[in-house]
Amino acid sequence: TKLASPPAAADLEEMLNSLPQHTCSWSKGKYTLHKYQGFWSHRKLLEVAIPAQQSFKARPGDVFLCSYPKSGTTWLKALVYAIITRGKFDKSPLLTTLPHNCLPFLEKELEQIVANQKNSCFAHVATHLPYHSLPESILASNCKMVYIYRNVKDVIVSYYHFSREIAKLTMEDAPFEEAFNEFYQGISLYGPYWDHILGYWRASLERPDIILFLKYEDMKKDPTIHLKRLAEFIGYPFTIEEEKAGVIQSIINLCSFENLSNLEVNKSGCSNGFFGIENRLYFRKAKEGDWKNYFTDEG
Ligand code: A3P
Repeated sequence: TKLASPPAAADLEEMLNSLPQHTCSWSKGKYTLHKYQGFWSHRKLLEVAIPAQQSFKARPGDVFLCSYPKSGTTWLKALVYAIITRGKFDKSPLLTTLPHNCLPFLEKELEQIVANQKNSCFAHVATHLPYHSLPESILASNCKMVYIYRNVKDVIVSYYHFSREIAKLTMEDAPFEEAFNEFYQGISLYGPYWDHILGYWRASLERPDIILFLKYEDMKKDPTIHLKRLAEFIGYPFTIEEEKAGVIQSIINLCSFENLSNLEVNKSGCSNGFFGIENRLYFRKAKEGDWKNYFTDEG
């Protein structure tokens, strides 16, 4: 379903009401997703995403940080913000602001992004939209995209805890097995997962110059190499002097899970935006292989 121009509020409402809905079985009726253009999402996110699809005018030079939820978006946003604002680490806003509030999210902060366009020549914007549902201007303007991905089993576990906590359910109330089964069937926020990653992957084969794939586990193993690739790709390469001065390591340290998760703002704050999510929920364990604590041998 693609609309020709930004829908009026009443049309949008009607369209959203007509979408297939699914209330997740594990959620005790608290977590409902809507299916739009082949993917599942929250109604509130679609209320912004659909107008964004129709009206958002990306500019050449804008960079999009794309991901399936729970794949390392928070880390990627922190790293990109630290790269583009480097030079003032001791006073970095990342020390007092949730990374999600340092760079905007297309499906939440469209108005802010559009307002910012007047003041800055380009933007760094995050999105969970699948490739095929991105606003056309992003592709038409050849904007660069960074796609972060992660072992799907760890994504499932991370997603389970995040959505369970948002629904304020305990692990006993929200059986992991049910959440797993729904995810496996493709019913998860921005799911099906494989369609999401394959959409960007196929596009990256055709346009490797504009889509950079980063793997969460590789970044953990060798952050320096991947941070350099990332900085170069988004047009902020490190100079030899910066490398010698330890700038790369400073960014890695600033954005590390250990550092960010222990900051007061990320321990006790609450993020902006319509969901009012507690900041701590973005920082759980950040361990590779946590899935082994949840999956059975058959899994
Ligand atoms: P876990 O739930 O496995 O701990 P997203 O940012 O896309 O929502 O993904 C959240 C996952 O990234 C969570 O994984 C979270 O702990 C982890 N994470 C958050 N900040 C991180 C950081 N600075 N470095 C590495 N991982 C981080």
